[in-house]
Amino acid sequence: MVCRARIRPYNTLSVPLTPFVTMSNLITERVTYVHHWDDNLFSFRTSRDPSFRFSNGHFTMLGLELDGRPLLRAYSIASANYEEELEFFSIKVADGPLTSRLQNLRVGDELLLSRKPTGTLVVDNLLPGRNLLLVATGTGLAPFLSIVKDPDIYERFERVILMHGVRYRSELAYADTITAELPENEYFGEAVRDQLTYYPSVTREPFHTNGRVTDLLASGKLFRDLSLTPFDLESDRFMLCGSPAMLRDSCALLNDRGFRESRRGVTGHYVIERAFVDS
Ligand code: A2P
Repeated sequence: MVCRARIRPYNTLSVPLTPFVTMSNLITERVTYVHHWDDNLFSFRTSRDPSFRFSNGHFTMLGLELDGRPLLRAYSIASANYEEELEFFSIKVADGPLTSRLQNLRVGDELLLSRKPTGTLVVDNLLPGRNLLLVATGTGLAPFLSIVKDPDIYERFERVILMHGVRYRSELAYADTITAELPENEYFGEAVRDQLTYYPSVTREPFHTNGRVTDLLASGKLFRDLSLTPFDLESDRFMLCGSPAMLRDSCALLNDRGFRESRRGVTGHYVIERAFVDS
């Protein structure tokens, strides 16, 4: 078996959060579903307290009580804000303090969640545009699963492109949801069929599209494949989520072409989840 231990999941914040998160900020939810995609990736759902509100693209702190204290990590919410349950998509890290435990979750187990979901990866932080490019690597796909289920996205943008870069084909989680389920959705299926393009790519084994998402953008391949003008400042808006290295490289790529990041609530041409960036 190929060793694919990742040192730290993207969604692990680099600052300790315990000073900000006390047990009183937390709610307890029950696991309702667990799905293992492969040896490295799994998804799970929990019940959702009706008072738990969020915007599509937000993350929340999630974890377990360990020795009387909460052990929490930031997790993007993969379900849409109108769905009854909450869904999360996680990597398994054999010696990770939280994910080594989470990967053994069973239906009925209890999880702790922060009552205050937050994050910058929301469409309101973007300037108006024609094309929305959602660029993810690995479990960075999670917030975009919530966003592509948001009917409002298809009102705001003519085209929505969901890029997902992974090492191996088995890591293309949610491919069936995106290509088979969403187009059949009774409320927004038609918009998905007309406007959403799923663009998966694999870097470490043969696939119809090989290469890092950043290289596919920089080389112009993605734009050629979709008959789009490359890096059109007037039309293209980007949301990016993935490893710190991918975010750094993507920001450099976009900044070099005149795109401006949304910061501190000021709208921009692109957004990333700053909470997931190594400082
Ligand atoms: P690669 O196989 O060339 O490392 P990971 O699981 O390590 O987060 O990787 C997920 C995907 O992100 C892989 O396809 C990996 O490619 C790719 N990747 C890693 N670093 C970067 C980067 N700096 N920019 C773009 N993609 C990256």
